[in-house]
Amino acid sequence: MKVFITRQIQQSAIDLLEANNIEVTQYLNDDPISNANLISTLKGYDGLLSVGHVNINEALLTASRHLKGIALMSVGYDNVDIDAATNYKIPVSNTPNVLNEATSDVAFLLILNVSRKAIYHYNRIVNDQWHNYNPTAHLGIDITHKTLGIFGLGRIGISLARKCKAAFNMDIIYHNRNRNPEAEALLGARYVSFDELLEQSDILSVHANLSVETNEIFNAAAFDKMKPSSIFINTARGKLHNETDLIQALIEKKIWGAGLDVTNPEPMHHDNILLTMENVCIMPHIGSATVETRDKMAIMSAQNIIAALKGKRMPQCINV
Ligand code: DGY
Repeated sequence: MKVFITRQIQQSAIDLLEANNIEVTQYLNDDPISNANLISTLKGYDGLLSVGHVNINEALLTASRHLKGIALMSVGYDNVDIDAATNYKIPVSNTPNVLNEATSDVAFLLILNVSRKAIYHYNRIVNDQWHNYNPTAHLGIDITHKTLGIFGLGRIGISLARKCKAAFNMDIIYHNRNRNPEAEALLGARYVSFDELLEQSDILSVHANLSVETNEIFNAAAFDKMKPSSIFINTARGKLHNETDLIQALIEKKIWGAGLDVTNPEPMHHDNILLTMENVCIMPHIGSATVETRDKMAIMSAQNIIAALKGKRMPQCINV
């Protein structure tokens, strides 16, 4: 049995695959593999372990319907045409739960970073602009006792809410497709409509999946409804916000600041105006990028593809 991996991954996962008599090929180039290359390569493989948001579209799945399984090394699967995979009876798995804490840590980091303009102040020193003490200029804002609004209160959103409540005694409000009574009991979280979430959040953090319904849901109309003192945080998917509208909202001071670990598009170009703004912090999609978390993700995706190649159900299967 042979598995193709679209990036170099943790050796622990390679060892596990090889211990199960699976022949492994990793794509070692720095640039992502093209779809045409992947389609022709996969002809010689039984399974795909996909890392790094490869576009697993209908054309790729049609050409690769012999695959016994596709294991994603990510929790998000918006890059996969799940309906097409299901039609071809190809099981697809993801890596839920293991990255909850690492990803919510990055949301927490962005909240603190933006509210205190950490990048801006760091750059003042780098640029030799720290000469005096000015009690009125370039101030941040307090976050203690503020209202945290969560869009998409799943496992990562709950993890962030728990941290913000414990550290800053924040009030938690949320908007989801469905209410989450467990989180309401655990966090005293209050369910609100989407408009109420926009209007009442001091910090609005996005944790929803990308779908037809949520695509660019944070647009000019949404930013218009937010408080001028509010901070927008997105660690989920860049396409949940419209970046031109976000830039405009910041320029027009419709919102106070923004922290993004995901951008629209990705990668963000280095001359993007957001990178020059005082109340903005941008990270290059590193939510799950810790040694421990990436190791767990690699092992979990290896376990999934091993199960598929042995004809068993993948433990984290999301379709068939
Ligand atoms: C995920 O797991 O979906 C993260 O975005 C990393 O790819």
